[in-house]
Amino acid sequence: MSINKRAELYIWLLLYSVHLIFTCEAARIIELSDRFLEYKDKDVWLVKFYAPWCNHCKRLEPVWSQVAQKLVNTDVRVARLDCNKYTSLAQHFRVGGFPTILYINKDKVVDYQGERLLSPILEFVRRVHGPSIKKFSNCEDMRKILDSGDRDNRQASFVLATHPEGHGEAGELVKNFTEHAEHMYAYNYFIDVPIHCVDESKDHSWIYVHKDGAFVPYNSEKYQLLDQFIISERFPAFQRITYANFRQILATRKMLVAAVLEENQIGRLDTMRMEEVRDMLEALAENTKELYHDKFLFGWFPSTEIPYSIAMTELRLPSVIVVDPETYKYYLSSSADDPEDIIKLLDAIDKADPLPPSFGGNTLPYRIYRSYFDVSQNLKNMYRSSPVLTFVIFLIPTAFFAAICYLTCCSDFLESSDEDEDELEEEDDDHEKTD
Ligand SMILES: *[C@@H]1O[C@H](CO)[C@@H](O)[C@H](O)[C@H]1NC(C)=O
Repeated sequence: MSINKRAELYIWLLLYSVHLIFTCEAARIIELSDRFLEYKDKDVWLVKFYAPWCNHCKRLEPVWSQVAQKLVNTDVRVARLDCNKYTSLAQHFRVGGFPTILYINKDKVVDYQGERLLSPILEFVRRVHGPSIKKFSNCEDMRKILDSGDRDNRQASFVLATHPEGHGEAGELVKNFTEHAEHMYAYNYFIDVPIHCVDESKDHSWIYVHKDGAFVPYNSEKYQLLDQFIISERFPAFQRITYANFRQILATRKMLVAAVLEENQIGRLDTMRMEEVRDMLEALAENTKELYHDKFLFGWFPSTEIPYSIAMTELRLPSVIVVDPETYKYYLSSSADDPEDIIKLLDAIDKADPLPPSFGGNTLPYRIYRSYFDVSQNLKNMYRSSPVLTFVIFLIPTAFFAAICYLTCCSDFLESSDEDEDELEEEDDDHEKTD
């Protein structure tokens, strides 16, 4: 009897805590309505624009509650807006797809382009909140920013190291740095620190990139313009590659050396072997930095969508591919586990003597075939995740279309329409006669 009672008590406690968790989370996310424009300037907002029918929005929901929870003691208010209900508000913010995440601080509106996961979203808020260049007088505070970011979310930060006696010959550089920060601070940190935090020996200000635990100075012989430096140095030696950063990675114009892997539902790599391949490639990226830094950029694909689309075929998992950013041609390493094989391939590509066999490309026939391949892959994935829905969306309309074709081509139908025309002509004749 007493055991039963205790069990009952536990169940009630459990239910109550579940209830508390849900109501708390719900309370932290503010549901916006038409009147948002009236009070938006009183606060800083992070808003998810969603539609009830959109699948990506549903997947973002638990992440969004976590974001709200993490930001609960800050001055950023986390909210969401149902764009189906409040279309005019969605139009006001030029929302083009769902979900859209906007940071809204009075007239400053910044669109979030990264992966829809907790830590990159929080990093984004930290970057865009406040001035575009974050100023630190204390090296400790600088460290906290530079060392943030976990394994899946590493970043490069651009650092203006300011000399106490002024910028000296770096005057123009500093002006350009400020301008680029305005455009790029949604993607990378731009910070301003005293020069002694970076380099004791310099006698004027200078620009550095901080990544993989080290500062690398801007080299004005290698990069004539500061923006070339920023575009090609904005990624660490090894990173996760998704749709959110793929284009920017290609824009570095470095050959991309990437492990093709697959994450499961809970965001873990599918097999031990995949983890080993990722660790091996990461170590290789680290060890060959001196040699390959200017030519190759390393990373890993957590999902097969992009690499399959480049290859226009399904690849072995895990495998290691090298993608040429200009031509989209790709090279395959003979094995994914042996660093020797990969180094051999990279050397051959680098020396081009002779160039190893390459596949694919981006000429017109390849582009056409790629579109076809992408659509069929999408259908396949859709069918895998929800066969009934795919059936309803595609097969039923196809059946309709076929029925319409059949009816249009069916002879009875044609004959009857001929008759209609005849009648019309007769009528016209009648009119003429009466005139
Ligand atoms: C700085 O910007 C100016 C104007 O856009 C440009 O002419 C100059 O070459 C830039 N300098 C560097 C080092 O990027």
